[in-house]
Amino acid sequence: MRYTLLAALAGVATAHPMALPQEKETIGTPPANNLLGTIAKLTNSKGELDGGWGPKVRNEIIESTPCGKVTFIFARASKEPANMGGSVGPIICNGLKKAYGQAAVNCQGVGGAYTAGILDNISAKGTSATAVREATSMFTKAVEKCPNSQIVFGGFSQGTAVMHGTVGALPANIKAKIVGGALFGDTRNTQDKSQVPNFPKEKVHVYCDKSDGVCWGTLNVTNGHFVYATDGSAEQGLAFLKGKIDAAKGGAAAEKKRSIDAMI
Ligand SMILES: *[C@@H]1O[C@H](CO)[C@@H](O)[C@H](O)[C@H]1NC(C)=O
Ligand SMILES: *[C@@H]1O[C@H](CO)[C@@H](O)[C@H](O)[C@H]1NC(C)=O
Repeated sequence: MRYTLLAALAGVATAHPMALPQEKETIGTPPANNLLGTIAKLTNSKGELDGGWGPKVRNEIIESTPCGKVTFIFARASKEPANMGGSVGPIICNGLKKAYGQAAVNCQGVGGAYTAGILDNISAKGTSATAVREATSMFTKAVEKCPNSQIVFGGFSQGTAVMHGTVGALPANIKAKIVGGALFGDTRNTQDKSQVPNFPKEKVHVYCDKSDGVCWGTLNVTNGHFVYATDGSAEQGLAFLKGKIDAAKGGAAAEKKRSIDAMI
């Protein structure tokens, strides 16, 4: 299974002629160049890529969980388990819950029709229309269910392509609720210039290690693609999202105070 996965990843790499790498950020030190070893270490008995973090399933928008103040919508990488994956998704969800309270944060993985298939894929957008529809539906349901909640989003690997394809195309009333996003190992980093198209650049931070080959224009999977859960990037992404949530809260409180001041 491990070898099949590696062959599939390598297959993706060969299918794409290489573009010029364009280094933007360096986080942590580049890991030893042992892709096979890294994948073997991360592959669980079901053949899934699993860094060991959990819970791996979160359905706090589509199930009857009461609304919190914050909603986190996450799209996992190819071959990651369940709907949150086993790496940066659970780390950020757990971190937000620790910061604001378990019930104050609703986490929702993009699962269902988004199967995160390994070659799902070589399309121009780096993922499928089905995946984008599924993610769009999660944002739509989040706003319908919890209209007063602030939304943050995240993605890893193919999950970044899902967010690139989804967020900018959302209707304005949904986009207005999204205060921030954190993307890791972004397969659209070069193509979309480190931002999500049709969405404010300052609301999104892209974490791309210079040793991660997928960030520089082709699906060149390297050892560095798997660093984000362990090199401090996930925690930096968490801090970035918390900053956006707190700033938006402060903004809303100040706005309320201004309108009260105007009344008296
Ligand atoms: C690639 O994506 C297309 C469109 O979603 C899908 O039909 C196809 O099965 C995928 N191929 C693989 C190998 O996953
Ligand atoms: C793949 O990415 C790595 C890390 O960025 C880079 O060192 C390597 O040259 C790339 N390979 C190709 C064929 O571009």
